[in-house]
Amino acid sequence: MNVEKGYVDEPIEEGIDLREEILRLKRERNAVIMAHYYQREEIQQLADYIGDSLALAQLAAKTDAPVIVLCGVHFMGETAKILCPDKTVIVPDLSAGCSLAESCPADKFEEFVKAHPDHTVISYVNTTAAVKAVTDVVVTSGNAKEIVGSLPQDEKIIFGPDRNLGNYINSITGRDMLLWDGACHVHEKFSVAAIADLKREHPEAKVLVHPECPKPVRIMADKVGSTAALLNYAVDSDSKEFIVCTESGILIEMQRRCPDKTFIPAPPEDGTCACNECEYMKLITLEKLYNSLKFMAPTIEVDAAIAERAVKPIQRMLDISRELGLIK
Ligand code: 13P
Ligand code: SF4
Repeated sequence: MNVEKGYVDEPIEEGIDLREEILRLKRERNAVIMAHYYQREEIQQLADYIGDSLALAQLAAKTDAPVIVLCGVHFMGETAKILCPDKTVIVPDLSAGCSLAESCPADKFEEFVKAHPDHTVISYVNTTAAVKAVTDVVVTSGNAKEIVGSLPQDEKIIFGPDRNLGNYINSITGRDMLLWDGACHVHEKFSVAAIADLKREHPEAKVLVHPECPKPVRIMADKVGSTAALLNYAVDSDSKEFIVCTESGILIEMQRRCPDKTFIPAPPEDGTCACNECEYMKLITLEKLYNSLKFMAPTIEVDAAIAERAVKPIQRMLDISRELGLIK
């Protein structure tokens, strides 16, 4: 089996029905397929669960299935493996990385943490296991505001790696958290001018913005929130039109849940496309998913010493989220 490229690079039998075969193999392996909202439509359709980062972590922690196939990016698979060390966790293409996680090298982050020993360290889930290992509590965009808010107002906090999410949380909680200077290349490249044009064309449309976007985009928002929060807002809203400023994969579930509403993807600055896609998320294809189940590879492995430290802040996030009623 050839996995040199990060995925099982083996020929696929001619004429097979990939969807049927994936479902058959899933049953045979007793596997559960989880997919992030940014995944390709055909992957979302096959998944047992789709969700945001918080939901995927929670589902991984709860599942009885011995095999988790996580259709998302590497840090999501790592989080699942850290929570379930005895399970087999597969990400069908291990090169599905994350520019935000990459913007925070563990050695540099550890130096930063050591330089501020009186600070509590909060890390976004979009980080490597090694960064989580020097973290006190992990957050996602679905619980960051509440988790930061649950700490005493005068607590000194380091927040990494997303400067935009950190800035946003500072602005809504009145905190002065020390921010790591990282960002997601997808959420940073929305065009403010194009969003303003869309708003002029669709004056009734609500603007939905992920907090990984910079302030000039966030201030145009009717709703700032995680992918799940934006989805729920669209479902509950009386409005019929929405301009969506996050990775365009979320539009699939928005449209499925709200067939009578119109969702308009906000475009990136470079004008290359009407949508803004995360190329890492789109690396997961039906072919790679099929081969990953067939060969039970590539699996996520996390160094045991790192996992032992990293599990604590992830578990703390889940415990606080449960206490605050954010998850069940
Ligand atoms: P959420 O799913 O937590 O909103 O995060 C979005 C994201 O960028 C995942 O990479
Ligand atoms: Fe990472 Fe950004 Fe892609 Fe999310 S959208 S996985 S934060 S690069």
